[in-house]
Amino acid sequence: MSKIAVVGTGYVGLTTGAYLAHLGHEVVCADVIPAKVERLNLGQIPIVEAGLQEMVQEGLGEGRLSFVLGAAHAVVGAEFVFLCLPTPQGEDGSADLSYVQEAATEIAPYLESGAIVINKSTVPVGSVEMVADIIGRADIAVVSNPEFLREGTAVHDCLHPDRIVIGAADRVAAQRVAGLYATLKAPILITDAASAETIKYASNAFLATKVSFVNAVANLCEAVGADVGQVVEGMALDPRIGGLFLNPGPGWGGSCFPKDTRALVRIAEDAGYDFMLLRGVVAANTAQQDAVTHKIERMAGGSLSGVNVGVWGLAFKAGTDDLRDSPAIAIIDRLRARGASVRAFDPAVAGPLDGIDVVSDPYAACDGADVLVVLTEWPLFAELDLVKVREVMASPRIVDARNLFNPAYASMLGFAYEGIGRRGWIDPSELDMLELSDTHYGRE
Ligand code: UDX
Repeated sequence: MSKIAVVGTGYVGLTTGAYLAHLGHEVVCADVIPAKVERLNLGQIPIVEAGLQEMVQEGLGEGRLSFVLGAAHAVVGAEFVFLCLPTPQGEDGSADLSYVQEAATEIAPYLESGAIVINKSTVPVGSVEMVADIIGRADIAVVSNPEFLREGTAVHDCLHPDRIVIGAADRVAAQRVAGLYATLKAPILITDAASAETIKYASNAFLATKVSFVNAVANLCEAVGADVGQVVEGMALDPRIGGLFLNPGPGWGGSCFPKDTRALVRIAEDAGYDFMLLRGVVAANTAQQDAVTHKIERMAGGSLSGVNVGVWGLAFKAGTDDLRDSPAIAIIDRLRARGASVRAFDPAVAGPLDGIDVVSDPYAACDGADVLVVLTEWPLFAELDLVKVREVMASPRIVDARNLFNPAYASMLGFAYEGIGRRGWIDPSELDMLELSDTHYGRE
C-alpha cells in the first residue's frame, strides 16, 4: 500500500482521498481553509454526497486518512501526490489554472525524490507539461489521471469506475499509478498525457451534447405533436444510441459541463480548430433555459409581471445541494427579471438565497402560486400529493421541466400541465397506455 497526498478537498479531492484510504492506502489530504481542515478531521464533510461522510469517518477511524493545512505538509514522505484543485472558468472561457500553478510551486521543494505528481482535476491539454515545468525536477514524474465521478453518486463512481485513464510520457510512472487501482475491477487505459487530458473534456462535451440533443428533440416534438418519452424509448432500443443521458430538461448545469464545454471550445480555438458543433451545443443550452422561461411565461398567461411562481428544485441535478451553474437558478433569475416573485423548495438546499424565498416544505412553496415549476429531477417530487398542491395554489398550473409527473393524471386533477416535449393535454382514457410508455427512460 502506498503513501499518498491529495492537494485540495473539494468534491474530487475529498472523494479521491476517502476512497484511496478505503482501498487501503495511507492518505493525507491538504486544504488551505483552517476551519474546513478541522471539521474534516472530526469526520464532518461540507457537501451532500451519499456515502462520503461514512467513508471519511472509516478512513479517520482506521488511521489511514488525515487532513492537514497546507500542501507542503501533506507531500512530505508521499510517493504519489494528487492535485485536485479547482480550475474555474476564466473571463475568456478558458480554465483558470492559478490554483494548480500555485500548488505546484508550493510543493516543488518538498517532494520526495521519485514521487509522482498526478493531475486529477480537469485541466487543459498541456497541463502535465506545465506542472512538470513548474516543478522543474528531473526526479519527479507528472501524470494525468482524470476523474469521471458524478456528483450525487461520487462514492459509487469511484469504487465502480467505467475506466481508469492514465496519461504520461513516462510509461513506468503510468504503470505505478495504475498499481494504486489494482483492487478495482475496471479497464485501465494508458495513453500519452495530451490524449488523457482530451478524453476527460471530450467525454463531458459528448454527454452535454447528448442532453442538448434530446432537449432539441423535445422541442421538435412540441412543434410536430410527438411525445419525447415515446421517441426516446424508440431511440434507446438501438444499442448504438442507448438510453442513458436522454432525459430532456431545463438544460445541463453543474460544476463541470458548463465550464468544461466552454474551456474545450477555447482549447480548440487556441489550437486553430473551430469546434463549431460544441459552440452550438453551448448556445443551445442557454436557449433551452430561455425556452423554459417562455413556457412558464405562456403558462402564466403571457406576462410574468406580478406572478407568483412556486419552484421545486434549486440544485443543478438531484442528489446534490450544488447550485453551481444550476439551470434552476438561471431560470429563476430570468423569471425575476421579468417581474415574477419566486418561492422555492429543494430537499437539499436551505437558503437563504438572494431574491428567492427558500422554504422547507414543498407545499409551502406552492401556497398562493400562480404556476408551479419543477426544475430539479428529485424523485421525491413525483411522490408528492398533487391534490394538496391544487388546494393551496392560486391557480392549478404546472410547468414540469423534468417530466416527473404523469401528464394525464395532472390533467385529470384539473391542472393546466406542460412538460418538456410532451403532448400537453392527454385524454384520461389514454392513462393505461401512457403508464406503459412513461417508464423512466434513460434514468439510471
Ligand atoms: C459530470 C459527468 O457526468 C462526470 O463524469 C464528470 O466527472 C463531471 O461532470 P456531474 O456534473 O455530477 O457529472 O453531472 P451529471 O450527472 O453529468 O449531469 C449534468 C447535468 O446534465 C445536470 O444538470 C443534469 O440534470 C443534466 N442532465 C443529465 C439532463 O438534463 N438530462 C440527462 O439525461 C442527464
